Amino acid sequence: MLESNLQGLITQAVKKLKNGEIIGLPTETVYGLAACISDDKAIRKIFEIKERPFFDPLIVHVSSVDQAKSLVLHWPESASLLAKAFWPGPLTLVLPKNQRVSSLITSGLETVAIRCPNHPVALQLVKELGEPVAAPSANKFGKTSPTSSQHVQDEFQGKVFTIDGGDCSVGIESTILKINETEHQIELTILRAGIITSEMILKELDSKLGKKIQLIQPGTNIEAPGQIKHHYMPTIPLVTIEKEVWEQWGGGIENIKFNLNQSLSLSMQKPILLQLNNKPEQAARELYSELRNCSASGSDLILFKREDYHEGELWMAIIDRLKRASSYYIDSAEK
Ligand code: TXA
Ligand code: MG
Repeated sequence: MLESNLQGLITQAVKKLKNGEIIGLPTETVYGLAACISDDKAIRKIFEIKERPFFDPLIVHVSSVDQAKSLVLHWPESASLLAKAFWPGPLTLVLPKNQRVSSLITSGLETVAIRCPNHPVALQLVKELGEPVAAPSANKFGKTSPTSSQHVQDEFQGKVFTIDGGDCSVGIESTILKINETEHQIELTILRAGIITSEMILKELDSKLGKKIQLIQPGTNIEAPGQIKHHYMPTIPLVTIEKEVWEQWGGGIENIKFNLNQSLSLSMQKPILLQLNNKPEQAARELYSELRNCSASGSDLILFKREDYHEGELWMAIIDRLKRASSYYIDSAEK
């Protein structure tokens, strides 16, 4: 049971959605900007307020597997197993869409991205609305994603009605997995890394379906539409420097400042260090609020030191975002 004030806000939000408005929605990953999937006019409002290009498709949020099935041409066995294992949760499945999903949502693609969020407010809202909502992250296009309702208020100057569902427990966006399942084989492509890793996905499917499974890892050559190079950017420049270079430059903020200004012909005066927890789950949770705090600190540049222990799929999901958010990524002292 939800607290009565949250229930009241959900009722209000459902009314607004039915009236063609868009709302700020808490999920476990990041806050979304939601509209009814059947309302093209409201969907257009999402693109407008985010200043998002129409070539960047939206994720559709459902409250049940049955609702997900109502959006696709065919619900493959692998989707059943993965939904059973990870829904509600931070895994988005990309599957061939049916005509219920407008091409405005999918940017003209024949596939739709679907997820069932693990947040009581999001689930209850979709249930009460009786239809799925399309929702990208609630930030201006290319900027840092929001992990609290205050972030959404700041981003849109309080213009978007947002339900405060607390701070997001995951903190980075869902893993996006494209499924291409045929009679004898399953081709899986991770389009965006997240806290559901390929190892976890394969463990759920291996040997259960009697089909050959081929997994394509996220890489520089695989780009989801909209997964453009610069993304998640804070309002002041971020520079990521690999540990080796950091040490070659003598460590310590003053040394780094001197070497960086020289090698990039910059004139930064007040750099600030982005510090992340050494546990990746906690680092993911804090990432976007730390980036926002650094941006608001009065500094003119954010420095991030990439450590040796930033390895493995979870860290890769975080480093992927930091690379896209960085104005410069320094992996060699010669640059
Ligand atoms: O955790 C999340 O996924 C959050 C919360 C709000 O659910 N949503 C989110 O949405 O991150 P957004 O719009 O910031 O990122 C969605 C990305 C798009 O940029 C695009 O790369 C990919 O999902 N996408 C959507 N539909 C797709 C499709 N049909 N095929 C391939 N990629 C798709
Ligand atoms: Mg986004």
